[in-house]
Amino acid sequence: MQRLRTFLDHHCNNPALVSVIEGLMVACKDIAYKVQLGSLAGVLGSAEQDNIQGERQKKMDVIANDLIKYSLQTMQPVKGMASEEEADPVACNPDGEFLVLFDPLDGSSNIDVNVTVGTIFSILQSNPGDDPTHESTYLQHGREQIAAGYVLYGPSTLLVLSTGNGTHMFTLDPRVGEFYLQRESVKIPATTKEFAINMSNQRFWLPEMQKYVSDLLRGEEGPLGKRFNMRWIASMVAEIHRILTRGGIFMYPYDSREPNKPGKLRLMYEGNPMSMLVEQAGGKASTAYDDIMDVEPTSIHQRVSVVMGSADEVDTVVRYHAS
Ligand code: AHG
Ligand code: MN
Ligand code: MN
Ligand code: MN
Repeated sequence: MQRLRTFLDHHCNNPALVSVIEGLMVACKDIAYKVQLGSLAGVLGSAEQDNIQGERQKKMDVIANDLIKYSLQTMQPVKGMASEEEADPVACNPDGEFLVLFDPLDGSSNIDVNVTVGTIFSILQSNPGDDPTHESTYLQHGREQIAAGYVLYGPSTLLVLSTGNGTHMFTLDPRVGEFYLQRESVKIPATTKEFAINMSNQRFWLPEMQKYVSDLLRGEEGPLGKRFNMRWIASMVAEIHRILTRGGIFMYPYDSREPNKPGKLRLMYEGNPMSMLVEQAGGKASTAYDDIMDVEPTSIHQRVSVVMGSADEVDTVVRYHAS
């Protein structure tokens, strides 16, 4: 079995980037350990404070954020970071070259009910002279990402990673603290019979999304001509992992409740990294109108509508929104 470091040395001819990915994994292994211990480590429950998103933080949101933040601050190549749980960007080494944007704990509403959560990260190249305390330094299109990945804290702890040459999966062996290659260059099937969307928001969707989902639910009798199964885990990392493994489509679409926010998910540390992983695996990632990785970034916490997964199904959703 190939260790993560061996794989990266072959696939990623950028030793500084490899060191950042390995450093991130040190923090994520610690997160995995604390998530595994749960109540025994006193990490469950609410942190009794809200983040910049206006979300009530879980204790584990804050713990995961601090573990990653302190780890990044020790890494020479890291110039700055942006996190779901930090209102502003945080400067690291002024002579560093990479910017790391992350969602320290995705799906954290599931932590107290012992359902899979994860960490999502996106790595950008900073330009010399860019100020790591300025938001504008981080506002690069998704296609500028030099690496993206997530760590899934589930029955197994997995790392799913792309440095621009395919999407690859690794499994953590907790007995030795090493990630081993599980699947190289995964490919998402182009068609699917599984869709993931939070149906309780149906009345807030655009009419085009309401029409698509109602046609989905008509099964064989409907215009899509096949029966679909619905999934919803409320952890994006778990949904995208299922899709990378066996296909499917995941949607968190525009929602009329907040007209100036085109959905719940954040572009810079959820939409873009997941889009890179999905596209590198032959899938598609759209706002229902444009590729997510072509969306113009305007703020580090900006929201984006998300439709991603099996290429043919994403094309169908885009077609419904073009008519
Ligand atoms: P986070 O826990 O990082 O705030 O993200 C949660 C996101 C995403 O993981 C998931 O797909 C979505 O929120 C679930 O939203 P609902 O709770 O509205 O279903
Ligand atoms: Mn959150
Ligand atoms: Mn999230
Ligand atoms: Mn989060």
